[in-house]
Parts: sequence; structure tokens; C-alpha cells
Amino acid sequence: MSLVLQSLLVAEDLDRVRAELAALTWSSGKRTAGSAARDVKENLQADGSDPRVKELERFVVEALRRHPLFEIAARPARLSRLLFSRYEPGMTYGAHTDDALMGKGEDKLRTDLAFTIFLADSSSYEGGELVVDSALGEQGIKLEAGDAILYPAGSIHHVAPVTSGVRLAAVGWLQSFVSDPTQRETLFDLSVTRSRLAAAGIAREELLKLDKSISNLLRMWAR
Ligand code: NI
Repeated sequence: MSLVLQSLLVAEDLDRVRAELAALTWSSGKRTAGSAARDVKENLQADGSDPRVKELERFVVEALRRHPLFEIAARPARLSRLLFSRYEPGMTYGAHTDDALMGKGEDKLRTDLAFTIFLADSSSYEGGELVVDSALGEQGIKLEAGDAILYPAGSIHHVAPVTSGVRLAAVGWLQSFVSDPTQRETLFDLSVTRSRLAAAGIAREELLKLDKSISNLLRMWAR
């Protein structure tokens, strides 16, 4: 299941992020690509060891964690570092699948889900769609600045060549407490239904059995 997280960053957040990104130096994205992706990755990335980048990562991750759908859609156990990427005209990231395990030592995590947070106004560049292969075929995703897409890291995906303007994005991965996508989707559907019932004014006592079921499924499936 892929899911859009709308308005993860609001206009003033985007102003801050873009102003700080504009002051950075960028280098080839090949340095952080897994061996399978290195040959097809043609973009630029911010230097993750720069303290300004680390601060920006914290700021964006806080926004991600605050988004009302993130927790129930991802059930995140561990988050990777964020990569800030920049695609100038002619740049692209060819078809690849993400490494199953990322990070080193204590920070090592299994990548269940990937996410891309779009940072440039969609009308400011052409091309640059994130294209994800699914059972229904290829799906091209180009979201408004501040929106994010959560999608399976195990999918085959690519970033279409940028033909004009500059595509800015933050990308990351997470290990979910619920690694099975069907189980995760079941919990998500039940949680969304719970919110809608609560919003419709269903009495709290009536929701208790549903809460119990969601909690107990999570206990059975979380690891
Ligand atoms: Ni990827």
C-alpha cells in the first residue's frame, strides 16, 4: 500500500528548509547508494555529516512523526537518516530496489517502507516523478511541496529524469513493528474506521471493543 501524507510541511516550514538547503554544498548521490543502485543513481545529495543538515533532518523528522496518518500507516519501530536530494535538469534515478538492510551496527534497520517528502513546488520543475511499480502497473507520483508518499521499499521504483527546474526532496526508510503489509493495512483500516466512528459521535463505550481488537492484533503482529 502506498499512502500520501498531505501537508507534512506547511509553507513556513518549506521556506525554512529551502533556505537552508540553498546554502549547502551538494555532492554526487552515488556515495550513499547501495551497490545495486549506484550505477543508475544520478543526483546530488546534501552532506549528512554537516551539522546544519543534521538539524534540518531533526526538524523534518519531527514533522513526519507529528503527521496524523504516519503512526497508524507505518507503525514505525526505527527510522533511517534522511537524505536531502537535488535533481537538476538531466538528472534521474533509474529503476532499482532499495537495500533490505541499511545502516551500520546499532543503527542497522530493515527497510519495510520508504518515503519521499517533496520539497519543491510541483510547477517549478518538469519530470522528476517518483514511479513505483505495483500489481496495477507503474504509478507516477509528483506531489505538492510539503506532501509525502509512503511506499514499499521492496518495490521496483525510479525517479523520472528532470527536464527543467530543480527537484528537491527528502527521502528516508523505516522498519515497521508490523513488517507484513497486509497486517499493516488491516491495522490501518481499523484505525481509520475507529477515528471516523469517534468523529461521528459514537459513544466511547461502543468503541472499546474496537480499541481492544486493534490493540490485540498489534500485540499479535508487532515484532
Ligand atoms: Ni529507492
